[in-house]
Amino acid sequence: MVTASAPGKVILLGEHAVVFGQTAISVAVDLRLRCKVELSDKFSLNGQQHSLRGHPYLCGAIRSHWKGGPLSIFTDSDFPSGSGIGSSAAVTTSFLAAMRSMEGKAIEEEWVARSAFEIESLAQGRASPIDTSTSTHGKAVIIDGKKRENLLWHIKRDTREWYIHDCPVPQMTLVIGFTGISAPTGPLVAKVKRYADKNTFAREIIVEIGDISREGIACLKNNDMERLGRLMVRDHKLLAILGVSCNELDKFINAVLPYSYGAKLTGAGGGGSMIALTDRPEQVAEIIKNKGGTPFIVRTGVPGVKIED
Ligand code: PMV
Repeated sequence: MVTASAPGKVILLGEHAVVFGQTAISVAVDLRLRCKVELSDKFSLNGQQHSLRGHPYLCGAIRSHWKGGPLSIFTDSDFPSGSGIGSSAAVTTSFLAAMRSMEGKAIEEEWVARSAFEIESLAQGRASPIDTSTSTHGKAVIIDGKKRENLLWHIKRDTREWYIHDCPVPQMTLVIGFTGISAPTGPLVAKVKRYADKNTFAREIIVEIGDISREGIACLKNNDMERLGRLMVRDHKLLAILGVSCNELDKFINAVLPYSYGAKLTGAGGGGSMIALTDRPEQVAEIIKNKGGTPFIVRTGVPGVKIED
């Protein structure tokens, strides 16, 4: 029996634009998903017999990487699925690591990140490797269409390519506000693509989001939370113009802004979650709760996928 765990993540800047090869920054947070795997006489998930056919991530991982017999799989998570915090990436990376360890092989980050990206792409369509690479590496990553310092790996897909880098981040406290609305990533990514295909203005917004992320990298280096917060607000406005915000996200963001350096949606949007960068996390969490959301106060600087003792 092996248990592996992987962190959730928040995208600090650059979601959606990253699908087009623009720069984005994603940070692993101290909410983890654990996946326990053991050999069994039939496939089961969380104690229920399961063909796994309806579970594209587990099924994809087994199809591509498991040659042994049936498995009994248990998952448990500190954060809800469909919340924009990266549960599909965390389930995929932790399950891959657990299977690999059952085969007596070492867990190589690059192998996990590449394999998980393949599986997520099949399940989600036009995904970028941002979620799977953050879940694998932990800490924080910069994803870019160009090579920078601290390169971890390089991933290519059709005409697009991404260079994934380690990103040193200062210790930060963020508050995540889950709207309770589960919005699948695929259709939102497809919506932005349709908009960008027919509209120059949308394409310019995508480049502008990339510019904001590049400015954000400098803020992290200089520990400049005030400027980073302002960038988050600008990023959110552009994401709203692209059509991926919603009333609940805007309501939470407006309510917490007087108590935060900045706030924005995180992940695909359309529901899911927002984040606030703040030095008053308890107050911000209370506001989110009063508005009907589920708050999580999270910290950065956490490890990526790993085998639990
Ligand atoms: O699946 P989510 O909600 O964490 O969103 C991922 C970020 C997107 O840029 C919207 C999609 C992608 O694959 O990069």
